[in-house]
Amino acid sequence: MKILHIDSGILGEHSVSRRLTSAIVSQLKADRPDAEITYRDLASERVPHLTGAQIMAPADLEGVDAALAADVRIGRQMLEEFLAADTVVVGAPMYNFSIPSQLKAWIDRLAVAGKTFRYTEAGPEGLAKGKKLIVASTRGGHYSVAPASAMDHQETYLRSVFGFFGITDIEFIRAEGLNLGADQKQFAIAEAEKTIAEGNVLKLAS
Ligand SMILES: Cc1cc2nc3c(=O)[nH]c(=O)nc-3n(C[C@H](O)[C@H](O)[C@H](O)COP(=O)(O)O)c2cc1C
Repeated sequence: MKILHIDSGILGEHSVSRRLTSAIVSQLKADRPDAEITYRDLASERVPHLTGAQIMAPADLEGVDAALAADVRIGRQMLEEFLAADTVVVGAPMYNFSIPSQLKAWIDRLAVAGKTFRYTEAGPEGLAKGKKLIVASTRGGHYSVAPASAMDHQETYLRSVFGFFGITDIEFIRAEGLNLGADQKQFAIAEAEKTIAEGNVLKLAS
């Protein structure tokens, strides 16, 4: 059993999504003490943006300069970690109606034809099937209902891209309205933590 734990919020100890992913992983670990956990903090690691040079680098990296080779290798490692995981836990705050660019940079390293998806005569096929994805989704405002839901390019994007990779078992643990006052924030966090503690949505991929 392998769990991949990803954080992407830039607010350090003030980050609610970090607090929630930590609670989620603790709960998973309590259920499966044997689980092997890989952790990446995308805010402190600074995954470089995708470049043409990375994409066009030869598979064996022959003749590639050291900086580019290191960049390609880190992307390959991230992809292998993702492919190896049974359960992926992602902390995904809403930034500017979407996700942190750090998280997008990580996803860009996962979107590799022949690894996480392929195109067939019948259309695209996700190749990362059988995983469970748990997203700790945090937002300053409320986007669960219309008309604000039309501005949600965070959860909708994550569902689309990981769905494209073949993941159908996706759970969102959501804390929203976090910037609408201390009471609302406390309430939203308590509700999310209650959902995590109940454990029903956290069932691990087998
Ligand atoms: C750079 C930045 C952009 C943000 N953009 C939005 C936004 O578009 N909509 C929103 O509701 N909240 C927005 N927020 C508020 C965050 O979603 C909220 O504070 C969340 O708790 C931050 O994530 P974290 O606490 O999980 O790290 C933004 C916060 C930051 C720091």
